[in-house]
Amino acid sequence: MAVMRRRAFLLTAVLPTVAASHPSRTRQKERDTEVGPVEDLMREHGLLDRVLLVYDEVVRRMRAGEKWDPAPLQRAATLVQEFVESYHEKNEEQFVFPRFETKEVLSELVGTLRAQHQEGRRLTQQILHQQRLLPSLEQFTRMYRAHTAREDTLLFPALYKLMTKRELEQLGERFEEIEHSLPRDFEKALDEVAAVEKAYGIGDLSKFSPV
Ligand SMILES: [Fe+2]
Ligand SMILES: [Fe+2]
Repeated sequence: MAVMRRRAFLLTAVLPTVAASHPSRTRQKERDTEVGPVEDLMREHGLLDRVLLVYDEVVRRMRAGEKWDPAPLQRAATLVQEFVESYHEKNEEQFVFPRFETKEVLSELVGTLRAQHQEGRRLTQQILHQQRLLPSLEQFTRMYRAHTAREDTLLFPALYKLMTKRELEQLGERFEEIEHSLPRDFEKALDEVAAVEKAYGIGDLSKFSPV
């Protein structure tokens, strides 16, 4: 492994004792925690899921007639635009979907996924401009839960059949290079979604447990 990927580094960095006293074990740990391109994409779906929970909370407040601050919603939609649409989905469109399209594998699914990216961008514009806000939020959350579930369970597993191990490694490195050029990388995007969750009082995981 020529370059230890940044997310792997973040994980090993929290284990300083192991790193200092057992260099060989550290190298093993680096290999164990290396994040491939598919796990990258799935973690990004996890981030999007957290935005969907924010949108759910705004929908709940709107339907209940409760007061809510539009500023955190604006931050969440901006994060979707910058990180999900301009990075995650762009990567899928440029590096993942063409693998299926050229080999005519899962063609119908990939066609729908591409179309849904465009629909998502349209809905995000409406959310940012507070146009048809309630239906736009509901359509967005409904579509993306189905969209990411299909990518996670059908598309990404099939990618392993279409790409060699080396090609997957190169794809992971490409994703990493692009991520480094972003104004907000994955870790900063996570911080942003956590701040928005906190603003709407849904920052604690325990809030989602049955009462
Ligand atoms: Fe997608
Ligand atoms: Fe995706």
